[in-house]
Amino acid sequence: MLRKLLFSFREKEIYHSIIESLVAALEAKDHYTKGHSERVAIMSYELSKRLGIKGSELESIHIAAHLHDIGKIGVPDKVLNKTGKLLVHEWEYMKMHPQTGFDILSKSKKLEHISKIVLYHHERWDGKGYPTGIADFNIPLGSRIISICDSIDAMTSNRPYREAMSFEICMKEIIINKGIMFDPVLVEYVEENLDFMRDIIEFK
Ligand SMILES: [Fe+2]
Ligand SMILES: [Fe+2]
Repeated sequence: MLRKLLFSFREKEIYHSIIESLVAALEAKDHYTKGHSERVAIMSYELSKRLGIKGSELESIHIAAHLHDIGKIGVPDKVLNKTGKLLVHEWEYMKMHPQTGFDILSKSKKLEHISKIVLYHHERWDGKGYPTGIADFNIPLGSRIISICDSIDAMTSNRPYREAMSFEICMKEIIINKGIMFDPVLVEYVEENLDFMRDIIEFK
């Protein structure tokens, strides 16, 4: 029993260090992603927990949030670090990152569920997202949660080509997109529980 417990503890440790190495590989290439993945992971974890998600599903969402942009490893440096507006063909490269992330993670049987959450993190509630255009409840819950947290962090971050939005303006954007880009029930939940999101965003 103890041997089995020690083994599963050791296995979990290896699993977590592999995930940390994957995130570090992306961070070495894209500096913006460093704090971004971390914050999206914290927000997604807190939101999921408050929604009553627990156990292995909570852990999967948390890890998927850390790894959601891992596919950017496959985006050329000059596209990833471009300060101006992306040209059409550069945008096409950028839009490949959820599929690339899925291809990397789905190589491991253990990461199969996580790879699907990553694949769909840029899908939209109205079906106008990418890479597949699936809509509403066909999008995994974890991807719907990460999508909101990802957008909140992106909008409130300074980028070389634009200033960060205030948390209040960002939340107005999220609410306008309720039922369009984002799951309406999740947005309502976020609206009713703004403080923890604000704390994470204002800490950066
Ligand atoms: Fe992404
Ligand atoms: Fe992201």
